[in-house]
Amino acid sequence: MTQKVKDAVFHRDLNKKYPIITHGEGIYLYDQSGKRYIDASSGAVAANLGHSNNRIAQAMADQAMKVGFVHSMRFETEVLHHLAEKIVDLAPRNLKKVYFTSGGSEANESAIKLARQYHRDNGDRDKHIVIGRWQSYHGNTLGSLSVGGDIKRRKPYMPNLINTEHVYSPYCRRCPYQRNSEDCSQRKNWSCVKDLETKINNLGSENISAIIMEPIVGSQQGAVVPPKDYFKEVRKLCDSHDIVLIIDEVMTGFGRTGKNFAIEHFEIVPDIITFGKGVSAGYAPLAGMIVSDKIIESTIKNSAGKFIHGYTYSGHPVTAAAGLAAMEIYEEDSILNNCIQMSKYLIEKLDSLKSKSNIISDVRGKGLLIGIELVKDKESNILFDPIEQVSNQINEIAFELGAVFYPGSGGIDGLRGEHLIISPPLNVNKEEIDEMVTILEKVIDSFENDMK
Ligand SMILES: Cc1ncc(COP(=O)(O)O)c(C=O)c1O
Repeated sequence: MTQKVKDAVFHRDLNKKYPIITHGEGIYLYDQSGKRYIDASSGAVAANLGHSNNRIAQAMADQAMKVGFVHSMRFETEVLHHLAEKIVDLAPRNLKKVYFTSGGSEANESAIKLARQYHRDNGDRDKHIVIGRWQSYHGNTLGSLSVGGDIKRRKPYMPNLINTEHVYSPYCRRCPYQRNSEDCSQRKNWSCVKDLETKINNLGSENISAIIMEPIVGSQQGAVVPPKDYFKEVRKLCDSHDIVLIIDEVMTGFGRTGKNFAIEHFEIVPDIITFGKGVSAGYAPLAGMIVSDKIIESTIKNSAGKFIHGYTYSGHPVTAAAGLAAMEIYEEDSILNNCIQMSKYLIEKLDSLKSKSNIISDVRGKGLLIGIELVKDKESNILFDPIEQVSNQINEIAFELGAVFYPGSGGIDGLRGEHLIISPPLNVNKEEIDEMVTILEKVIDSFENDMK
């Protein structure tokens, strides 16, 4: 294919030239010039089974040949039922039904609305406020952007955002409350939990509908894992104030963190889990929410079974076929096990890179959702100036060398804090990890030399 003369695509960045990818194979992507890229981030942590998987492609084609579209107001397909059953089987107990959407933002919009409907149905008509957290990401549609805490993405649209509230998430090594994590874990009077409780009391729980949180903060903080008992405290607050707990597993679901759902690491059960990305391993725009029996029963009893919501593409059969094929591969190829094994290997290699580097200050995350924190000087703990956009610079160098990572910034306070996510497809092997870490080492060396 030759480069188009007239470019009619409204790109993410209209000033930028993007390489045109002609094909992918396993963990690699190839562009028009023949250049090969190792996909060390599964795109945006979505292509969890790598590229050009024949089985998923075939399942989609077979389904499109049988029937490519039915409208969910009138019909259903078997493939959708099979997929929903598989998802429910993987989910924590109490989560019993799956509502399908096309993307993670839509999934979170749906969860916000369902929580509101649930309270309204139960006579709590004032319950409408959603509490999210600063430095989190739940999507780019106006509702999901409002509950999210990405300051740079929110700012241009402030007048359009809905009324939401935020508290800080526990980024313990950079605690927004200036607490020391040892003291926190001994005394358990965590400022982040106290702040949430105060927020609930000040707003009045009679006005609060839901709390939404990522179990491990992905793109905004670079795989920051909360302390073990944090979510138990959040669950207690939700229970005592009748607040719906929405856990956003769009990035973390389906084995990414070494568990089917990341919330399992923290031993609590949410009322709604939203998911996306990995459900179809990125092969089709598929996402949704898994809903607890408490909310399902209330919808049946108090709302004549109807959720006042819906999208044209909810439950689209071709996307469902992609999802079902991905689920079968996750299971049959023991992808979760591979993720756990490769995670240990990747972390070891990154820890060794950290010990040699003056700008990698932290390696964190779970499974194959690993973040590295980047600072100007590890010894004196000096941060990079946000204006330098260091994570982007580093990613650009890696891109030149044929590796794609997932850069991010603002994880500390919306502006400061640079990180890189390393999140290869979950079927990655040791040789591929060696290759991506070797490139990363070259990139870090080159950047550090330029700093001198
Ligand atoms: C945690 C989380 N929630 C929601 C979204 C939004 O999903 P989508 O881009 O599919 O709308 C993302 C996307 O990166 C995400 O990481």
